Amino acid sequence: MSALFPRWTNTFARVAAVSAVGVPVVALSAVMLLQRTPYVTNQHVELVQPIQFDHRHHNWEEGIDCRFCHAQVETSATAGIPATSLCMGCHAQVFNKSPRLEPLRQAYFSKTPVAWKRVHDLPDFVYFNHSIHVRKGVGCVTCHGRVDRMPMVYQAEPLTMQWCVDCHRAPQQHLRPLDAVTDMQWQAPVSAAQRAELGQRLAQANDVHPRTACDTCHR
Ligand code: HEC
Ligand code: HEC
Ligand code: HEC
Ligand code: HEC
Ligand code: HEC
Repeated sequence: MSALFPRWTNTFARVAAVSAVGVPVVALSAVMLLQRTPYVTNQHVELVQPIQFDHRHHNWEEGIDCRFCHAQVETSATAGIPATSLCMGCHAQVFNKSPRLEPLRQAYFSKTPVAWKRVHDLPDFVYFNHSIHVRKGVGCVTCHGRVDRMPMVYQAEPLTMQWCVDCHRAPQQHLRPLDAVTDMQWQAPVSAAQRAELGQRLAQANDVHPRTACDTCHR
């Protein structure tokens, strides 16, 4: 062996071996750390939309339920963004001269959908489903924050894998009665013991048992 390979090749091999393992580990840790910062997860970013739609006017002041506009949220994977015709159901009468609603009228009469920008957008390799969460008692506010108080919707939670899995491991403290899933003001019992008891009871009543196997979310 020593005749074929001079001594320095040993050192070279060692350095090569260490960097082959070391560099990707360092790089990966850096990427994973970076991934936890709000900058990378796009948290708290407000997007300028084609129409200045304000959830505060509609949800907070007018008290319109989330499901009136995000109608598929209990039955399908996606919550859905309302069609122009739904808005026009009111805005053909209410504020029908408002310049802020000019893009809405244009979209409606030219039959082209409003080009809303996505605020939440998981990578394509992640499978998510709204209906299962909502029907098992996870409220909108738990994952989206106080949308009814947002002049422009932003992503309130990190939406990282860690965030999903943390709840899947112990969902009890995040559960609420089914009739309160869209209620932004529902308050859990303050006492920890009562909260835990309610969580247990709801988990049992609604047969809640989220999975953490990889193919739950990567299929
Ligand atoms: C009157 C109709 C209406 C009501 C009521 C309504 N929304 Fe919306 N929602 C919209 C429209 C239009 C958009 C797209 C524009 C935007 O992002 O602001 C939207 C966007 C969103 C988004 C961001 C979607 C994305 O792109 O990721 C979330 C989250 C959301 N709504 C949650 C809620 C919740 C929770 C409620 C109830 C508290 C609610 N909405 C009530 C019309 C409505
Ligand atoms: C159930 C009736 C209803 C529906 C449906 C509805 N709106 Fe409204 N909207 C209102 C009312 C009422 C106001 C006035 C609220 C206020 O000022 O307190 C308003 C206000 C607005 C304003 C502000 C107008 C201005 O001049 O200040 C915009 C923009 C708007 N709505 C967009 C939309 C869009 C886009 C949709 C569809 C996604 C929609 N609305 C659906 C009732 C509705
Ligand atoms: C368990 C967490 C969770 C709950 C509960 C939840 N959402 Fe979402 N929501 C998400 C995630 C994650 C996305 C991004 C999905 C994607 O990019 O594929 C999203 C996206 C959306 C969108 C954008 C359109 C879409 O379907 O992708 C709307 C609108 C929305 N949610 C409304 C709601 C409403 C209304 C409720 C309550 C009835 C609700 N969500 C409950 C996590 C949640
Ligand atoms: C606050 C708690 C909570 C968060 C956050 C959450 N989940 Fe869930 N998830 C649940 C509960 C509860 C269920 C229902 C489990 C059951 O009983 O079937 C569920 C079910 C699911 C299912 C259906 C599983 C199946 O067996 O078919 C998928 C897929 C899923 N979650 C994906 C996600 C993803 C992806 C995220 C993050 C973007 C996420 N969840 C965040 C609580 C949560
Ligand atoms: C409850 C849902 C959920 C489960 C269970 C889950 N993941 Fe993920 N995973 C996600 C989400 C959401 C993302 C995208 C956000 C992120 O990168 O944190 C992701 C991202 C990833 C990525 C890309 C990481 C990156 O930095 O871009 C890999 C690799 C991955 N998951 C592997 C796995 C493996 C292996 C398992 C099983 C041990 C698993 N996941 C279980 C939700 C899940």
